[in-house]
Amino acid sequence: METNHWIKIADDENSLQWNENGIALVSIENKEICIIKTTEGLHACNEKCPHAGAPLEVTGSVDSHCILTCSRHHYKFNLKRGRDAFNEGYFLKVYPVRKEADGIYINFR
Ligand code: FES
Repeated sequence: METNHWIKIADDENSLQWNENGIALVSIENKEICIIKTTEGLHACNEKCPHAGAPLEVTGSVDSHCILTCSRHHYKFNLKRGRDAFNEGYFLKVYPVRKEADGIYINFR
């Protein structure tokens, strides 16, 4: 049985430290997670690129289709599904994000 594990990460978007690519880094249970602003709302994923471990808060940029590109070797990942956009077998762990009146939560499972 899957358990939901929603964790509050911030009171609101303004309390996160966004870089110029709209990515903020948060630490949850000793794990670094990228929170990413997209045209379809907030997304969350592991901080390490699944190709060769680049720090996505530095190497990541997102387009208007929720595709995250890692600038290290230019692999692309769909932030909705985690799959690499060209089906080369890499999978970026993504987490559901929800905004509530009292803050922003991610489902960290
Ligand atoms: S480390 Fe990200 S594409 Fe290679």
